[in-house]
Amino acid sequence: ARVDKAGYKHFMAKEIAEQPSVLSGALSAYLTETGIALPEPGLDFDKIERLVMVACGTAFYACLTAKYWFERLAGIPVEVDIASEFRYREPPITPGTVALFVSQSGETADTLAALRYCQGKADKIVSVINVETSSIARESDLALPIHAGAEIGVASTKAFTCQLNALLLLALKAAQSRGRIDDDGLHEFMEALRALPGVFNIALDRDEVIAKAARQIAEARDVLFLGRGLMYPLALEGALKLKEISYIHAEAYASGELKHGPIALIDKNVPVVVLAPRDSLFDKTVSNMQEVMARGGKVCLITDAAGAKAAGEDVWQTIVMPEVREELTPLLYALPAQLLAYHAAIAKGTDVDQPRNLAKSVTVE
Ligand code: G6P
Repeated sequence: ARVDKAGYKHFMAKEIAEQPSVLSGALSAYLTETGIALPEPGLDFDKIERLVMVACGTAFYACLTAKYWFERLAGIPVEVDIASEFRYREPPITPGTVALFVSQSGETADTLAALRYCQGKADKIVSVINVETSSIARESDLALPIHAGAEIGVASTKAFTCQLNALLLLALKAAQSRGRIDDDGLHEFMEALRALPGVFNIALDRDEVIAKAARQIAEARDVLFLGRGLMYPLALEGALKLKEISYIHAEAYASGELKHGPIALIDKNVPVVVLAPRDSLFDKTVSNMQEVMARGGKVCLITDAAGAKAAGEDVWQTIVMPEVREELTPLLYALPAQLLAYHAAIAKGTDVDQPRNLAKSVTVE
């Protein structure tokens, strides 16, 4: 079926806005009354000794996020690599290794080559894809569809949140099989997931505040994104989105690395977007933020109500997200990161859906 913009100015705007309903569909594809149902043949999670995750671009950042989930929730050691690096390094694949590939299109040349490298070496080849008939899906032992629907905007938005969703469900399933989460714990998680589309709707109401911040940020030549823990991969994704569609130079750093180099860049001309819900690492991020502000840096803080209160008054712009449990923050905070990039691109007058030099799917090396 032909996909149209459904009244939106751009496919990207439509794809951002439809995330509540798309996520809700993606969740119901996997959540049952009592647990999480994966397609057959499932995985023997008990036997997994190591997970190697490989992808490109936005899908790579979904993998980096999932590393935290697989390690923390399921206790599985995880390595994440960029497909173009992985494929030529000839990395040893030891027994007990499951190789997991994430790709919206399922056709990215480097990711497919990395998958083929693992065939016959890894215990299982798993993929997380959007296109179920794709090469990567067909060549996997187990392919998990993310159920994002057709994504037309070159800059990935709803596919990213749906990749995160599928990976989190996989990590939860692994945690359950490995006895790391009990039934009550799992059900609490499932409840929070079921509530997430509603929370996304509330977050979408922040559009005007985000657009205002984005118009200011669009005046900068360079922008820094900071995050810690689960927010670090999201900082990388936020910076990627901004440079992809607004052509503003953006870099992301783990907040704790700030003092090891990037702090030298800080002055009043370099806005710093800080992604920091009031989680277990919040206080550490606040002190990084203070280091920025003490050097005249302008902080755009994306946080929740408690975080906004604790951050004090010197923050330049604050974007307040609804509260969700810590493990779900990457899904929710993807939204303001996407909207910041979108509105910055609008302010710059760039071609949002077809940014220069980029392709939706890169099927050549
Ligand atoms: C291209 C797209 C990106 C995407 C990457 C990986 O560079 O412009 O948005 O993240 O490919 O694509 P895949 O289809 O493998 O997820």
